[in-house]
Amino acid sequence: MSDLTNVLPTEHPILPQLTQRRSPRAYTSQPVPTAVIQQLFTAAGSAASCFGEQPWRYLVGSKETHPEAFAKLLGALGEYNQVWVKNAPVLAASLAKTTFSHDGNPNRYAVHDVGQATATLAVQAVELGLQIHQMAGFSQDAVRASFSIPAEYEIVAVFTIGYPGALDQLPDALRAREVAPRGRKPLAEYVFEGGWPQLTTERYDQAPV
Ligand SMILES: Cc1cc2nc3c(=O)[nH]c(=O)nc-3n(C[C@H](O)[C@H](O)[C@H](O)COP(=O)(O)O)c2cc1C
Repeated sequence: MSDLTNVLPTEHPILPQLTQRRSPRAYTSQPVPTAVIQQLFTAAGSAASCFGEQPWRYLVGSKETHPEAFAKLLGALGEYNQVWVKNAPVLAASLAKTTFSHDGNPNRYAVHDVGQATATLAVQAVELGLQIHQMAGFSQDAVRASFSIPAEYEIVAVFTIGYPGALDQLPDALRAREVAPRGRKPLAEYVFEGGWPQLTTERYDQAPV
């Protein structure tokens, strides 16, 4: 069932799965079945990647099947994230293999490719009635240490996976953020057709020396 909470208004029509994707902080306690988790990560793995390297790796901790892994990921989060993440049924971490397998050289697209794999997963999640919430608010060192992650892998993000739930489980401030109007920059601010925008308000040739 689609999550129609706080759908994103857009300048031009786009896929409903994109406007319905959001980063909720309230989840039901309903576990995410293993087969569904596998569908989500299959979607992630369908993404394009530089040299076809597929540098993405995911650590998954479902409360139901791997509570220790869930607890370790939860413990690595900042306190402000733990407040709401503790109610989610699944936590995952995305990691990037930072070198190419074919020649051992650094892969400067690794984090880019992991990002787009997780973005693809997020869209598949919407289609399955789920949502994810990505976080940068975690300790790299804590995740690395508690899962013995080799140095070659960068920990990119931690994210919840779950079925969106009732907002009354959240503290007031967080509840307000769930229903605050959503919006995005207008296209004119980030799409430059035909060339890089020229400064119209500043004239360097007239600047005082
Ligand atoms: C890489 C990344 C890091 C983020 N870190 C956090 C975080 O630590 N805590 C949090 O509550 N939200 C975090 N967010 C969620 C963003 O605040 C959210 O995606 C943004 O406000 C847009 O909202 P939407 O995803 O609902 O469209 C993060 C999102 C991304 C992509």
